[in-house]
Amino acid sequence: MLRLGVNIDHVATLRQARGGREPDPVWAAVLAELGGADGITIHLREDRRHIQDRDLRVLKDTCRVRLNLELALDPGVLSIATSARPEQATFVPEKRDEVTTEGGLDAVAEESRLHDAIARCHDAGIEVALFIDPDLAQVDAAIRLGVHAVEFHTGRYADAATPRDQEAELDALRRASRATIAAGLELHAGHGLNYQNVTPIARIEGMRELNIGHSIVSRAVLVGMTQAVREMKQAMELAIR
Ligand code: PXP
Repeated sequence: MLRLGVNIDHVATLRQARGGREPDPVWAAVLAELGGADGITIHLREDRRHIQDRDLRVLKDTCRVRLNLELALDPGVLSIATSARPEQATFVPEKRDEVTTEGGLDAVAEESRLHDAIARCHDAGIEVALFIDPDLAQVDAAIRLGVHAVEFHTGRYADAATPRDQEAELDALRRASRATIAAGLELHAGHGLNYQNVTPIARIEGMRELNIGHSIVSRAVLVGMTQAVREMKQAMELAIR
């Protein structure tokens, strides 16, 4: 089975633009579930630019599908995560001035800090994924760290300027995916995926979860969240049929 995790951060971005209550990402999560989302993904950033602590608390109580919390190696956010106990925590890199998550986490350089953070998540009963680039040294670090899953950053694939560059990125993703599956880790991918480019990623052997935000929320502005999620699920199902 291939799950769709709908990232609703951008709904919160719109709310924060006015600092009020709407649109509420909790409502968006309910509508995404109605459209067939298998999971809801949120990123509680250290700067709280979109998702707020309240959103995590309410989503944890109301979400009927898997809740995947993206977080950086930040002690404050980690404490919030271990008390909220989402089903899954995905460790991501975070820079204050970035527009979105640029590149994967350097699990090799951060191995010892990750080791402790992952242990705290496991003690709280949370499955852990690492958001990394499709690089074999990074996969090896994820294996050593004993995580449940890796999520490959598909940004370079999504941004490739030519079909040839895109194919090269796809090859790198396939190679890293084979190493991941061979080690018994679950395979996830995300970033920059949209209705046009999702098919080859969905078709990677062993792919289990795609986390998609910007393209679904953008489409939801025009056709509604439930319809936008339904269309992405259909695209994924068609890809693997
Ligand atoms: N997966 C991870 C780990 C992310 O950080 C993001 C972006 O927040 C996504 C998936 C979704 O990326 P996009 O919004 O480009 O679909």
